[in-house]
Amino acid sequence: MRVLGIESSCDDTAAAVYDASAGLLSNVVSSQVSVHADYGGVVPELASRKHIRSIVPVVERALSEATSGPGEIGGVAVTVGPGLIGSLLVGLCFAKSLAFAWDRSLCGIDHLESHVFAIFLEKAVPFPYIALLVSGGHTSLFRVEGFESVVFLGGTLDDAAGEAFDKAAKQLGLGYPGGVEIDRLARQGDRGRFPFPRAWLSPDSADFSFSGLKTALRTFLGSPEGRSARGEDVAASFQEAVVEVLVGKTLSAARREGIPRVVLAGGVSANSRLRDRIEEEGRRAGAEVYLPSRVLCTDNAAMVAFLGERRLSAGLSSGWDLNVYASSRFSR
Ligand code: KG4
Ligand code: ZN
Repeated sequence: MRVLGIESSCDDTAAAVYDASAGLLSNVVSSQVSVHADYGGVVPELASRKHIRSIVPVVERALSEATSGPGEIGGVAVTVGPGLIGSLLVGLCFAKSLAFAWDRSLCGIDHLESHVFAIFLEKAVPFPYIALLVSGGHTSLFRVEGFESVVFLGGTLDDAAGEAFDKAAKQLGLGYPGGVEIDRLARQGDRGRFPFPRAWLSPDSADFSFSGLKTALRTFLGSPEGRSARGEDVAASFQEAVVEVLVGKTLSAARREGIPRVVLAGGVSANSRLRDRIEEEGRRAGAEVYLPSRVLCTDNAAMVAFLGERRLSAGLSSGWDLNVYASSRFSR
């Protein structure tokens, strides 16, 4: 089956076409970075308005790049949550209208699940595996047993890792989105220069906490030592504190669960230090590590079209009463 996927959960308007036999035919993402840059974070109302303006050209481009129209598309998949309600509604209303007009089936997709299976667009990973989803809104560990079986192992108790990166970048006077800026600056820095705190919580905990690190950075930057510190060293030391915990907790979860396979997902998994460290430590721990290419780490509709195709081919379509949700349905 060939499926059109639509994603608008946060600040990117995206559409893609995935075909079960031909693979990914198009993958279009329209970024809203310039709309939100002045605010240092996503402004929900501005995001919804921009989605409304972008959705038609983005979907048209995805269809034309895939040389597909109603004749070729067998179904429409769309992200329904978690995310910003206004943003999600733009995607859902558009997807419903299109599916209704074309008389095609509709499939609602959970944003976290689509991230966790994004790797399949490049490589089939044997089940089960441990997935670390690290993005601007989420930092969670899952045991993934199959396409319909994703088990939550733990998550952040406060800030998400991407949020920590973005807030740290703001404190350092860097641009937005901050994760990319810190990643870039950290390459010239000494990552062992400042010992920022690592929140390991209890020994076997799969939960995370990054708010203490954020406060530690703010306190440090206000101190005499912080005021004279090189930005590169602060960025590298901060990044190291985040990465060490992400890598350590992911491999501990893999060991505890007896699953020597780890998949990374979400925007923060584009981080170069995280990618290097999880590969090195994974090798040492005897675990296979799967890293999606960077375009599949950040928000995209290819992962929505892929999972939608699997579900629709299995007869798992959604009704016309399909609705959006703001909060993650994954919890202990
Ligand atoms: O998955 P995503 O595109 O959107 C959601 O939050 O769902 O993730 C965006 C987050 C932002 O916080 C951004 O700063 C972070 O991913 N990010 C990075 C890097 N690239 C994007 N964080 C660290 N290093 C990067 N290279
Ligand atoms: Zn995301």
